Amino acid sequence: PYVITEPCIGVKDASCVDVCPVDCIHTTDDAPQYYINPDQCIDCAACELACPVSAIAHDASLEGDMRRYIEINANFYRSQ
Ligand code: SF4
Ligand code: F3S
Repeated sequence: PYVITEPCIGVKDASCVDVCPVDCIHTTDDAPQYYINPDQCIDCAACELACPVSAIAHDASLEGDMRRYIEINANFYRSQ
């Protein structure tokens, strides 16, 4: 699945939400960023192209410290 990473924090532009065909990008008012549900993402890449701060990438392309966002995105949905 695709993953939302650090540049989203404090920005929360939400352009990604509008283009996602399966409506799997969510947040809450008090959360620092948006999150992709890894069980619902169909890897279409529409969100990656829509984000103005390039916060979104495929999990397989994430390197180093950015890999922790794989769990950060998944954990948002486990806690719901
Ligand atoms: Fe939605 Fe496609 Fe982005 Fe997955 S890759 S979160 S399906 S827009
Ligand atoms: Fe965040 Fe970019 Fe979406 S800033 S809310 S990942 S469009």
